[in-house]
Amino acid sequence: MAILHICTYPEEILGQRAEPITEIDEEVITLVDHMVETMYNAPGIGLAATQVGVAKQLLVADIAPRGPESELIVLINPEIVVAEGEVIFEEGCLSVPDYQAEVKRHEKVTVRGLNLQGEEIEIKAEGLLAIVLQHEIDHLNGMLFIDRLSKLKRDLYKRRRRKQLAKEQP
Ligand code: NI
Repeated sequence: MAILHICTYPEEILGQRAEPITEIDEEVITLVDHMVETMYNAPGIGLAATQVGVAKQLLVADIAPRGPESELIVLINPEIVVAEGEVIFEEGCLSVPDYQAEVKRHEKVTVRGLNLQGEEIEIKAEGLLAIVLQHEIDHLNGMLFIDRLSKLKRDLYKRRRRKQLAKEQP
């Protein structure tokens, strides 16, 4: 097990579209282990492979990491097959440090993909899980939640982030 580096805006990989996984080999299984540990350590409730620098269609999520309802989801090649309703929720992201903003998403989604055993699974999600799955699938399409904000808000964040980075590296 290992804690992986989490890429942050504006690292280029975050804008890349992930490739489908064609074989669930040792490399994928190890990557999942590392991603799960990295997510719990952060702590976060979801993590996409692109966030740890791997452009493969893979996500992990657990919306109650410390609670009794804790349930780890591992999804390979996830795809939204049904989307309904609308909901606005304040989101953050491990790859977008020190920023939260309200994002409009579908209220309910059905997501299809493979589990680590290579079996096709379907998750019918609503509430927080629906939001997390949409957020992580966006990552796999090279999209951050700030890309769903108005240009004004997004530009404000980008400017702030550039200043923050300049301070870190004088
Ligand atoms: Ni994120």
